[in-house]
Amino acid sequence: MPGEARTLAVDRDPQRIEAMFGGIAARYDLMNRLMTGGRDGHWRRIAAREAAPAPGDRVLDACCGTGDLSLTLAEECSGCDVVGLDFTEPMLERAREKAAARQRRGLLAPTFVRGDLLDLPFADGEFAAVTVGWGVRNVSDIPRAFAEMHRVTRPGGRVVCLESTQAPYGAGLYFHRVWMGHVVPLLGRVVTGDGTAYAYLPASVEAFPRAEGLAAIMAAAGLTRVRYRRFGFGAVAIHVGEVRADVAPGSTR
Ligand SMILES: C[S@@+](CC[C@H](N)C(=O)[O-])C[C@H]1O[C@@H](n2cnc3c(N)ncnc32)[C@H](O)[C@@H]1O
Repeated sequence: MPGEARTLAVDRDPQRIEAMFGGIAARYDLMNRLMTGGRDGHWRRIAAREAAPAPGDRVLDACCGTGDLSLTLAEECSGCDVVGLDFTEPMLERAREKAAARQRRGLLAPTFVRGDLLDLPFADGEFAAVTVGWGVRNVSDIPRAFAEMHRVTRPGGRVVCLESTQAPYGAGLYFHRVWMGHVVPLLGRVVTGDGTAYAYLPASVEAFPRAEGLAAIMAAAGLTRVRYRRFGFGAVAIHVGEVRADVAPGSTR
């Protein structure tokens, strides 16, 4: 039945995830454009605006991959200090190439570091905002990912999550099922030569909490005023949560 919660065996072992993204890094950006009909950049821009950083702020983009959301943050806030973090070195290499191109144009560019979202190498409250784009679906412990993002965000700051999600019942759901279940794996095989990475994508979306469930996980991590908006026939969601302004950095209560 469409939308029915199904438990799929999705292997989120970190070493497997890292190897998978390492293998598709060279074609990752092209696949994003093809899969989303070029809309991914628009959704990243909305996510970057939701983070609402101000010049001088330090912003973390976790699971930055090839750096597109980090770069969008830098474009949206020209005076911000943007840090992108990911654990897959070939993805980071692409991100650093883009940052170097931006620097050659005389613009402030993000810094890219290798690290694990589940054990962020940053101090409590170090960032004004944290974003994560299409990242939390791949981690082995989603509550811990949000606890870590909450911890490193300063009181009053925002955590923004851009992610694929199950479309609600209706035409969007059927379209999404066909697109993700059949077209995307085929495209992935042709474009990247990897049949498994883009078969994992729809399976991981199905196994991922629904948008309401993700909002509940964010609230349980201590974030407040959690809300979300859907895009792309309902198959993409941007969740925003805030760190309470009246707590000490890193505190969840
Ligand atoms: C689908 S890509 C998203 C990249 C980018 N945010 C974007 O908007 O296109 C997911 C990325 O998350 C990274 N990742 C997955 N689990 C991670 C973890 N625990 N810590 C750091 N990076 C992780 C992968 O290496 C991969 O680069």
